Amino acid sequence: MQRLKDKIALVTGSGNGIGRAVAKLFAEEGAHVYITDVDGDATAKAAAEQAALGHSVTAMTVDVSRGQDVTALMRAIEQQHRRLDIVVNNAGINVRSDFRNMSDNDWVRLREVNLDGIIRIARDGFPLMKASGRASLINMASIMGHRGMRTLAAYGATKGAISALTRGLAVEYGSYNIRVNALAPGFIETALTERVLRVKAFSDALLEQTPLKRFGTAEDVALAALFFASDESAFITGAELAIDGGMAAGL
Ligand SMILES: NC(=O)c1ccc[n+]([C@@H]2O[C@H](COP(=O)([O-])OP(=O)(O)OC[C@H]3O[C@@H](n4cnc5c(N)ncnc54)[C@H](O)[C@@H]3O)[C@@H](O)[C@H]2O)c1
Repeated sequence: MQRLKDKIALVTGSGNGIGRAVAKLFAEEGAHVYITDVDGDATAKAAAEQAALGHSVTAMTVDVSRGQDVTALMRAIEQQHRRLDIVVNNAGINVRSDFRNMSDNDWVRLREVNLDGIIRIARDGFPLMKASGRASLINMASIMGHRGMRTLAAYGATKGAISALTRGLAVEYGSYNIRVNALAPGFIETALTERVLRVKAFSDALLEQTPLKRFGTAEDVALAALFFASDESAFITGAELAIDGGMAAGL
């Protein structure tokens, strides 16, 4: 199917993991996708894979925590396409630490990437999304914005803020026909979770709490992103969709 035919899409952090799967699915669905990541090699590799399949992509190395990178990105999109129909604010990091001993540097880095980056893209991308006349902005929140877990308090704080930002922007951008929604993945098998999910006792306990009895895949999240990106969700804004196998539904 070509549900995103001729749409111009930007996916941040799309060199690996969830972002990469989102970029792949959007390209398969007919969008021109800006594949961007702070990791230049991963960006180039993900873009080359899509180009080899005949998909339409542009690769750019972008660190969302650097204002000048985001400015350069928006300028390039302005010059090449003059509009942005879909933005997936996916780039994110996790710094696990015992909260009592967390360094200022760890907190600032978490905030700069997970929150400042999303705010910058949502603000600086506004003129291009407005020019679309029918845009969809999708923010990557997390089950951790709504549930607590040891070593994840600071990460959860950035993700809870993304949920609040999503609702605020839905109200502010609605009159420009820019829809703003959030995705809240549970535990998805990517590099971000690889190390902790290898701890058998921990992963067994998580599966016990997951009604569907498996971890998610990057493709599970990409399919939900496609729903928010496409006209199938044309009357939905300010919403958040859990992709967690039912984990957050339980106690
Ligand atoms: N994996 C999960 O279980 C899970 C659960 C909930 C939410 N999330 C969120 O999903 C998003 C993607 O996570 P993932 O699991 O695919 O992780 P990942 O580590 O596999 O991929 C993240 C990508 O973001 C890139 N990145 C990191 N910092 C960046 C920056 N400053 N600028 C641009 N790109 C940057 C990395 O290079 C990497 O390619 C994150 O926002 C994460 O918080 C993941």
